[in-house]
Amino acid sequence: MTAPAATRPRIDLQQAAREHLWLHFTRMGSYEDTEIPVIVRGEGCYLEDVNGKRFLDALAGLFAVNIGYSYGEEVGQAALAQMRELPFYTNWSYAHPRAIELAAEVASLAPGDLDRVFFVSGGSEAVESAWKLARQYHTARGERRWKAVAHRLAYHGTTLGALSINGIPALRTPFEPLVPDVVHVHNTNRYHRRPDETEEEFTAFLLDDLDGAIQQAGPDTVAMVIFEPVQNAGGSFTPPEGYFRGVREICDRYGILLCADEVITGFGRLGYWFGSERYDIRPDLLTCAKGLSSAYAAIGAVVASERLVEPFLEDTRSFMHGITFGGHPVQAAIALANIEIMRRDGIVEHARENEDAFRRTLAQLLDLPIVGDLRGAGYFYALELVRDKETRTTFTEDECESLLRGFLSPRLFERGLICRADDRGDPVLQVSPPLIAGQREFDEITTILGDVLTEAWERIH
Ligand SMILES: Cc1ncc(COP(=O)(O)O)c(C=O)c1O
Repeated sequence: MTAPAATRPRIDLQQAAREHLWLHFTRMGSYEDTEIPVIVRGEGCYLEDVNGKRFLDALAGLFAVNIGYSYGEEVGQAALAQMRELPFYTNWSYAHPRAIELAAEVASLAPGDLDRVFFVSGGSEAVESAWKLARQYHTARGERRWKAVAHRLAYHGTTLGALSINGIPALRTPFEPLVPDVVHVHNTNRYHRRPDETEEEFTAFLLDDLDGAIQQAGPDTVAMVIFEPVQNAGGSFTPPEGYFRGVREICDRYGILLCADEVITGFGRLGYWFGSERYDIRPDLLTCAKGLSSAYAAIGAVVASERLVEPFLEDTRSFMHGITFGGHPVQAAIALANIEIMRRDGIVEHARENEDAFRRTLAQLLDLPIVGDLRGAGYFYALELVRDKETRTTFTEDECESLLRGFLSPRLFERGLICRADDRGDPVLQVSPPLIAGQREFDEITTILGDVLTEAWERIH
């Protein structure tokens, strides 16, 4: 019998991590003189490392652990029961109870007629699958459309298809040539627009840009427009009033499918089960992952409208796509337990009720000279850091490097706060705690950020 984790012979974790573990998106060389952080346990919104140091996880383990870290016992029981009953079977040609129940549950929560659920193992696979689904949907209807339209600077994953949809040049360049063809359009970042531009004018500008890009690409070659309800990369860009209504109209005009990438925003992050509901997006398909299981399992999904599924139900047709672990029964049981907990403990309602208090608390940081903007919605915020607040001037690349990587990230970690200093666009701090966080956590996040940002300002002046 395998020894339980607690009684396994101990290895030197630090040394073994250095010798064997390849960290994702990590400059491994930066750990030459410092320890690799090893997180060993979690409780509520807090994590503890191997040295016993506690951290407030203001990033919910990459925008994912929506219920926090204390439900392991309950979710584990659901996983154990499933392990005993049926540890694995596949969704290739077969169904099993947990995949069926989870599909029904997701369909009941998803807005509109998004009723058909295709399970995958994570967000990248969901985006990848959505693009393939969009392509084959058009083919099945006798049209050859393959292009996707996405926002500049948006992150949609790392597998080659999802990566091609990404609008972040630094992620794309090392892997070119990518999958053809993706057109990137203006995102909804308003902070660096003309200050006297009205919201209405901004919406009109964005919709013009989208329409123009589609026309230039050739509308009858475009399969799918894929946008996040609130864009993460660049720092929580919310859509201006009327934007998604206009996007929907443009997609309808040209027969293009609209996909909402809800890998982050799905399952409560914006105070609604789905961001599409909050912004009345009415997508044809939707991608989700992280919050579906609160990251207790590696599971994601594409949720498609009935209209999209129809051509696949005819004759001998099938969606020519599958993944061994898609709809894995144990992962599905875990996701079901997560949704049950979210419903029972009112997690989404809690986020919606506390959103204003969270924003108000974070807004105190706008008094600091280095904080130019606070944006976002629900439990999904970003603070944009500026060199000059009046002119909204940002930092140089070298300053970003020394400020974000050299100072902010390590100092925040030292102070026991996990959040993300990000400069894929203009430099921002991303704050996105578990949805169970309340005023105590909001205060702690704001106090630590306030201290560290004050120090950062002093260092650069
Ligand atoms: C909007 C969005 N789409 C897709 C992905 C990719 O998800 P994963 O890392 O699970 O592959 C992410 C990951 O952060 C994301 O934020």
